Amino acid sequence: MAKSIQAVRGMNDLLPEALILWQYIEHVARDIMRTYGYSEIRTPLLEKTELFARSIGAVTDIVEKEMYTFEDRNGDSLTLRPEGTASCVRAGIQNGLLHNQVQRLWYAGPMFRHERPQKGRYRQFHQIGVETFGMAGPDIDAELILMSARLWRALSLEGLNLQLNSLGTIEIRANYRKHLQDYLIKYRDSLDEDSLRRLDKNPLRILDSKNPAMQDIIANAPSLLDYLDTAARGHFDALKAYLDDAGVSYTINPRLVRGLDYYSHTVFEWTTDKLGAQSAVCAGGRFDGLVEQLGGKATAAAGFAIGLERVVELVSLAGLKAPAHEAQLYMVLMGERAERKGMRLGEQLRDAGFRVLCHCSGGSMKSQMRSADKSGAILAVILAEEEYEQDTVTIKYLREEKDQKQVKQSQLLETVKSIIT
Ligand code: HAM
Repeated sequence: MAKSIQAVRGMNDLLPEALILWQYIEHVARDIMRTYGYSEIRTPLLEKTELFARSIGAVTDIVEKEMYTFEDRNGDSLTLRPEGTASCVRAGIQNGLLHNQVQRLWYAGPMFRHERPQKGRYRQFHQIGVETFGMAGPDIDAELILMSARLWRALSLEGLNLQLNSLGTIEIRANYRKHLQDYLIKYRDSLDEDSLRRLDKNPLRILDSKNPAMQDIIANAPSLLDYLDTAARGHFDALKAYLDDAGVSYTINPRLVRGLDYYSHTVFEWTTDKLGAQSAVCAGGRFDGLVEQLGGKATAAAGFAIGLERVVELVSLAGLKAPAHEAQLYMVLMGERAERKGMRLGEQLRDAGFRVLCHCSGGSMKSQMRSADKSGAILAVILAEEEYEQDTVTIKYLREEKDQKQVKQSQLLETVKSIIT
């Protein structure tokens, strides 16, 4: 036997049974985004490498070590998208969606990062993301957070914590950066390798370090919040007021700097303690400078992305079951004439909205009935030679102890309607 081929490490098949829950969560999220007036956008999975290097930032984990980058046949450097924001901005600029316009967009799909796979962290994972453009106020930041909070409620997820921070403007960060560097340089000998590398180019990212040995140094570092100017503080305070009004609680986390460089002002993460190390289920913030940085006109922007694998895991831990979508009726068909008739009856039942499985490719009555039982259907609709001759079908209850009945084919739909409401 030939050796079977396995999927790429960290990239998972999503099988039919698991997808019932996935589809349910996606459906709930879509409905919520619709009620807030968001429209879908789809962008290619592959983009020019430069797009991500220029937006996410050259000195970030994603760009330094996690991108799936390769040369295509023309020698162009392409990258499988590690996230959706950069693509969304690129598409917005390219298609003239952003200048002097207000946009509320959402997307869903796979993202690719060459991280070390573990529970909750994959190399192909899925996000549902939203990006908004043309709104500079704290109200839209609040809307994004309320929308995500509504999703948790709709999925009956409890115990998620909202972490909130403000990164201010580029100028504020540049000033803070100097003070942070001065502080960190004093501990140069105790910094780990990653932090040493970042000390010059991207010291803020050191605050994000998960290394336990670094935590004391980080805890005593100056806080960016103390460097905010009046306008930045006003924006942040107004956002907090909106959240207070809505009864959404939050924790101010001055160490929340995010792993991507395009943020300004508000950043936030929804975290859980139920998933071990991979605690962030949703993250985002403002990225007011990114549109201009990628060649568009300066445009206010804010958004977030949800990690679907992690939300699916949380929802299954909470024991929520997606509504069943098994077949309701299983057509058991014996003989060529009955099979043709059965196919037509199946179509009529589907026209009326029933979920119908037609047995295909023959088999004995016994094996067909076994399949009917396994399918989860409520009723078997049996059409063999005898029924065919009499223009009838036999209806057999699969989940209840009730006598089967034979009805005219012309009465099938009405009978099924009276049984399955
Ligand atoms: P991010 O924090 O890199 O942000 O990813 C958002 C979410 O995607 C994370 O909170 C996590 O739930 C999920 N995620 C990230 N990496 C993985 C992985 N390797 N395996 C499984 N899940 C993962 C962004 O991507 C930004 N584009 C979010 C954003 C949108 N900011 C503004 N707009």
